[in-house]
Parts: sequence; structure tokens; C-alpha cells
Amino acid sequence: MASCRSPGSRGARFVLLLLALGCSPSADDRRVVTFPASAVGAEAELLARQLARFETAHPGIRVEQRSTPDAADQRHQLYVQWLNAGARDPDVLQLDVIWTPEFAAAGWILPLEELGAEPEDFLPATLEANRFEGRLYAIPWFADVGMLYWRSDLLDEAPRSFDALGEAARAALDAGRVSQGFVWQGARYEGLVTVFLEFLGGFGGRLLDPSGRVVVDSPEALRALQAMRDSLETGVAPREVLGWQEEQVRFAFQSGRALFMRNWPYAVPLLEDPTHSQVAGRFSVAPMPAEPGGRPTASLGGAQLAINARSDAPEAAWQLVEFLTLPEQMVERARVAGQLPTRRSLYRGDSLEDALPVPVPEARRILEAATPRPVTPVYTELSAALQVPLHRALTGQLTPRAALQQAAQAMRGVLQRRGLDAG
Ligand code: GLC
Repeated sequence: MASCRSPGSRGARFVLLLLALGCSPSADDRRVVTFPASAVGAEAELLARQLARFETAHPGIRVEQRSTPDAADQRHQLYVQWLNAGARDPDVLQLDVIWTPEFAAAGWILPLEELGAEPEDFLPATLEANRFEGRLYAIPWFADVGMLYWRSDLLDEAPRSFDALGEAARAALDAGRVSQGFVWQGARYEGLVTVFLEFLGGFGGRLLDPSGRVVVDSPEALRALQAMRDSLETGVAPREVLGWQEEQVRFAFQSGRALFMRNWPYAVPLLEDPTHSQVAGRFSVAPMPAEPGGRPTASLGGAQLAINARSDAPEAAWQLVEFLTLPEQMVERARVAGQLPTRRSLYRGDSLEDALPVPVPEARRILEAATPRPVTPVYTELSAALQVPLHRALTGQLTPRAALQQAAQAMRGVLQRRGLDAG
């Protein structure tokens, strides 16, 4: 067969014409779009399925996956290396919700309105996190919220306060019903910041006040960090959590060892799978606990899709972003991977019925109330300034008070150096 030039981004109609004429785009002729995406839990299999459908719908484009580490901070480091070196590849980037302003400020990703982005349907907090200087740089792909998983076969209801959680864990440990009380992400990485934010909100504290001033050394923050450390000292949380990220935490709960777990929604379908999980049908999810003066707090996390500013194929890359963020793909992602859609319209219809870990109206309420991390190009530096002393306080190398003073001073230093301090 004579070789035919592929239509590149020209679309399916031209390809159909070529097919009718007896020639098809060979693999070599297709436009290649490279895409590094996460593969935690059921994500890898789901993505492979969706990419295959995309390629069928866009015969002129082939998607090549790039593997990246699961851990948020390591992925960030790798992206920074690539983009700093001016790499054209990968074309599409999966960004954590906290990275967009940094990457946009560095000129590494394209503003998307010109490519045809229509942001109206997306949840306001997720859009907010993806704007920089008024322009939209990434499309919210899925949203994460921190939740409390609890063993419904061992307890009648979820604890509403941290004290009640500690008591229930102690009783279950003493009675030998579980070997671990409460497991959470305690390694020194971004996940620890999200857990801290939830304890912090639960005690009525915050990282920055509404004017942008650092208030992480407040009395509320001290109580929150003290509560995290107490849970380790009393054995409610096993010391292993100090090295654990999402997946180690999930394994502990999934094997039936732990009474409570803090994790994102992706764990629900995996825990419900009786072939791998000891707790299928024996757990439930609830908001994180809170103390008087605080409120149950869910950190807002999630992934966004952006386009490398140096990509050779921005239009093809955009077609992929557009496809993956269509309602159908989001509903499937919710059902298979437990990850929450970012389109508001989906929470109004019935397409999410039975697809979410909690009833649809509740999911919407949790999402709308979720607490974002500071939206700023210097977020990574702020987080690093926080992670180190937090972890040192949990391992007992610093008192919680000294840790928070160090964190606050370091965070103020970052904002001052970058001319972003609120005075
Ligand atoms: C999840 C969240 C992300 C967060 C990370 C921390 O991937 O989606 O926003 O930063 O966990 O580990």
C-alpha cells in the first residue's frame, strides 16, 4: 500500500476519507503526544482504557505514556528538571493542584483559553487553583478530599472529635480487635501537609490568615500538632506512619490491621474489592473529626492537566486534555478509581448515582467546603518550610511549639524574599 501522510490534528473525517481511499495512517505517521500520569490504585488500568478510546476517536494521534513516581514531591522534582531544561516532551502534564501557579509563573505551561478551554462547568475552588494572573493554565481532572475511613463492623458510628477517635482506638487496641488504631500519611512529604491541614482545621487553625499572613504558630495550630504527636506517643497511631505515604496507609487498613485511616477517595473501590481486601463491606467513610472551635476539614487535592509550553503538538495535546476531562471519562473515573469529578453539572444529574464513596449531594457539599492549600507560585517552598519541622516534631526531635515557630519563621522568610508578604 502506498504510504499516505497522516492528517495530524485535522481530525477523524479526513482519516475516514483516507480509509475509504484504501490507505490508513501508519503508526509512524501519527502525531505522538506524550503523557506522564499517575498509576496509584486502579488508575493505570483505567487510563489505558481511556487512552485506547481516545486513539480510536483520533486516529491521527498516538499517546505515549511516560512513567513517573507516585509521590507528589518526587514527581514535582522530576517535572522541574524536565521543564527547567527546556524539554519539549512530555506534551501533557499531570499537575498536582498546588503546582499550577508555580509552573505558570515560570512560563512552563500554556494558557488554555486560546486552545478552546471552556471552564464554566468546573468547581470554582479547582479553577481558582489553576489560574495565574487571570488566565487559566490547567483543567481540573479529578478532585481529592481527605476523609476518615472507619471500620463499621467494629464501631457503630464514626467519631466526631479527635478525643473520641483516640478513645475508640484505644479500646479496640486493648481488646485486641485491631493492631493499629489510626493510620495516616506521616512521611516527610506533601501528604503530611495535607493531613496536618485537616488536624489544623479541626482545631480551628489555618496556615495563612485571609490577608495572607502566616499564622501557623497560633495556639490552635499548637493543639493540632500536639494531638498528632500525642496519637503517636500513646500508640493510637503506629510509629511506622512516620515513613508512610498513601499506599502504605491503604495497605494497613485494607489488611484489616487498623481501625481508622485518613486517605483520599481513591481507596474506596480498592477496599471494596473482596479479592484483595479484608475489609470489603466492613468500612465506611466520614468527615475528619473536629474539636469545639474547629470544623471537620478536608484538604482539597487532585490532579490537573496542563500543556508543556514547548510542546511540538499543542493542538493534539489539547485534544487529549479535552477528551480526558469530558463528563463520560469523569464518570468512569469516579466509578472505577473512586476519584471525584470536577464538573459541577455531574453532581446535578443522576450519572454519578452509585459511583461515589458517599451520596452525591454529600460529595458535592464536602467538595465545596474542602480547604485549599495556599494558591501561590511559591507553594512548594512554603510546603518544604513546613514539612521539615512538622516531621521533626512528630519524631520527637523538636517540641511542637518550637517546630511551629520554626515553620512560621521559615514560611515568612519565603514570602518576604519573594516580595509576597502581607506585612
Ligand atoms: C494526592 C492529592 C494531592 C496531594 C497528594 C499528597 O495525590 O491529589 O493534591 O498533594 O495526594 O500526597
